[in-house]
Formats: sequence, C-alpha cells, structure tokens
Amino acid sequence: MMKTNLCGIELKNPVIAASGTFGFGREFEPYFDLSLLGGISTKGLTLQAREGNKGIRVYETPSGMMNSIGLQNPSVEVFIKDELSHMQKYGTIIIANIGGSQIEDYLESIRKIEETDIPIVELNISCPNVKEGGMAFGIRCDSAAKIVSEVRKETSKKLMVKLSPNAENIKEMAITCVEAGADALSLVNTFNALAIDIYRRKAVFNNITAGLSGPCIKPIALRMVREVYQSVDIPIVGLGGISNWQDAIEFIMAGSTAIQVGTANLVNPKTMVDIIQGIQNFMEKEGIKNLSEIRGII
Ligand SMILES: Cc1cc2nc3c(=O)[nH]c(=O)nc-3n(C[C@H](O)[C@H](O)[C@H](O)COP(=O)(O)O)c2cc1C
Repeated sequence: MMKTNLCGIELKNPVIAASGTFGFGREFEPYFDLSLLGGISTKGLTLQAREGNKGIRVYETPSGMMNSIGLQNPSVEVFIKDELSHMQKYGTIIIANIGGSQIEDYLESIRKIEETDIPIVELNISCPNVKEGGMAFGIRCDSAAKIVSEVRKETSKKLMVKLSPNAENIKEMAITCVEAGADALSLVNTFNALAIDIYRRKAVFNNITAGLSGPCIKPIALRMVREVYQSVDIPIVGLGGISNWQDAIEFIMAGSTAIQVGTANLVNPKTMVDIIQGIQNFMEKEGIKNLSEIRGII
C-alpha cells in the first residue's frame, strides 16, 4: 500500500513534486495525469510579487545543476486568486511553499494561507538566492527558532520546515525546529555553490554563488536525512537528487516518510510517474505491505 500519512495528512503515495521545479503544475499537464502524485509543493511564494534575479539563472554541472532564480513568483495573494482553485482540481495534496526575507513578510503570507483550505505549509527558511534572504534563517539555530515559533503562532495548518544543507549543524537545526513547533521537516534545499566563467573572468551568476541540486548532491542529502531521522521524532520528507525509484527507496530506508523530486522533473517530466510505479513494483516483489516496514531500516 502506497498510502502515506504525513503528520496527519493522507497522501495517496509518498511522491511529491519539489518546490520551484514544478511551478503550479500547469506546465506538466500535457505530460501526465497530475492526480497520480502524492502531492505538489508550489513554487516559493512571497508576500510581494518578485521578478527574480537578473543574468544567468540556471547552469548545468556534472550530474547536476545550479540555479539562482531569486524566488520569482506572482505573490501569495495572486497565487490564491489565480492558481489555487485550478491546482485543487488536480486531486492531489497542495503544499504552500512560503519564502521571504523578513519575518513580518512570512507572517503576513502565512495569514493569507490560513484563509485557504491548503492543509500544509512548507516553510522555506533556506532559499540561498535572495539577498539578505531566507537562508539567513536556515543557517543558525537561533534565527530558525525565532521564525518557526513566530509562524507557529500564526497558523493552524500543518507546518513543515524545509532545512538548508548549509546549516551550521543539521541535527541541531532539526531539533531546534521541532522545539519551535514544526510538524514535519523537509530536507534538503540546494547547496551553496560557485561556478566561474573563465573567459569573462567572473562568476557565472550575478549573485556570485547559487544553489546546487541534482544527482551530485544525493549522497550528502541522504546522509543528512539519516542524521535528522536519528535526532527527531517527527516525519521527514527527504529530497536531493532523487531521479529514479531506487533513489526514492534509499531515502525511505534512510528515514523519509515521503520524498520530493526536483531537478529530475526538468530532465524527464514523467520522472515522478516512473518513480511511483517503480516503488509499487519493488513493494510487490519484496513483499512489502507498507513502507513503514522499510522506513529508517538501515
Ligand atoms: C530551478 C529551481 C528552483 C527552486 N525553487 C525553490 C523554491 O522556490 N523554494 C524552495 O523551497 N526550493 C526551491 N528549489 C529547491 C528544490 O525544491 C530542492 O530542494 C532542491 O533542488 C534539491 O532537490 P533536487 O536535487 O531533487 O532538485 C528550487 C530548485 C531548483 C532547481
């Protein structure tokens, strides 16, 4: 059985589209039936609309990519007005991914989400691509504790905090977020990284550094999921380089309740459908009735 309980929310399967790689779903409609998914995490939403960063925004690396989008989005309000009801027709769980650079902005965004029937918020305290950005919250435990506890006071929704792999100490960060009121944790966001254009003698990206994702980060992300699984008792949504069903099973065996797929959607838009089918076949072959039998098993 693929059904997955994520902090009280029932997913039809554990496969969720990762924020920023799936938009609000529309671009993927021609490729597959989106109701097959366990869930979709929206593109990161902010209080005010953002045009995103100038210059190069995506760049391929060996076994991965770097991005510096800068949270381009139409604002929480416009999302609720123009996109949400369409997304809800997909028949899958919608997760509102909230970003920002100031606590007040996060809180105002959360208040707007509170008025919708979205069941769960993914709090991005780890976006590396906004100046003075959310990542500042995700690096140090004291600032993470502050934002998570403030957001907790504002929302009755389930609160999933998305951790940065750039955190000073991922275990302490996880424990801090649990103590501040998180219902679930997702990890990881992108790794802070650098690419250089040797002919221009400059960094490729205007902001100098950018976020690294894709298969190249998978073994590190997997290690972090394992460490966090050993440190906290709330559900973990694992991600970072998952490209096929075997990767997804690895993340579950490391302790993930559900998984997200990001960069791989940009390589093959049907990746998640293959992953869902692959997990199901694996369960049948291995005689696994429920994924809880293998969760954290290593
Ligand atoms: C182009 C792009 C845009 C992203 N935008 C967001 C975002 O808005 N909010 C967020 O929380 N994560 C964002 N991410 C991070 C992904 O959700 C994910 O955490 C990361 O890419 C690692 O997973 P992956 O290796 O499967 O891509 C973005 C990633 C990419 C590649």
